[in-house]
Amino acid sequence: MNTEKKEERYKRVLKQIEDLTNKTKDPLARMSTIAAVLHHKFEYFSWTGFYRLVNDDLIVSCYQGSVACLVLPKNTGVCWEAINRKETIIVPDVHKFPNHIACDSRSKSEIVVPVKNSVGEITAVLDVDSKELNSFDEVDVENLEKIVALIYQ
Ligand code: SME
Repeated sequence: MNTEKKEERYKRVLKQIEDLTNKTKDPLARMSTIAAVLHHKFEYFSWTGFYRLVNDDLIVSCYQGSVACLVLPKNTGVCWEAINRKETIIVPDVHKFPNHIACDSRSKSEIVVPVKNSVGEITAVLDVDSKELNSFDEVDVENLEKIVALIYQ
C-alpha cells in the first residue's frame, strides 16, 4: 500500500476506533475491537492481535487471524524485544530476526507496539504480521501507537 493511501486509511480507521472505544472503558473490549477493525481494514495485516503480560509471561489475548502461539517464552522473539526495549519494533524480514517466534510460517514481516496503562506500565503488546516483506513503516508506527494509546484512556 502506498504511503498516501495508507495515511488516508489510518485517518478514517483512527476516527472509527475512537468512536468505538468511547463506548466502554473496559480494556479487553477495546483491544478486541481494535484487533477486529484493524484486521479488516488493512489487506496486508495477516494476523492482528494482542499478547498480555501476565506474571512475567506473554499470553495471547484477543486476536484475528489463524491460531497463534498461546505463550511466548520469556525474552525470546519480537514481542519480548519490544517489551524489553520499551518501544515499537518493525521487523522488515522475520527470517533475519534472531529468535523470531514463527506462529505461522507464512509471516514475512511484523510490527510490535507496546501498550501502556495510565501510569505508563507496559501491560501488553499489539502484534501485527504480514505475509509480505517490508510491510510496515513509520506511518504504521505513528498510527498504531496512537491507536493503542486509546486502550487505557
Ligand atoms: N512473532 C512473534 C510471536 C507472535 S506471532 O507473530 C502471532 C514474536 O516473535 O514475538
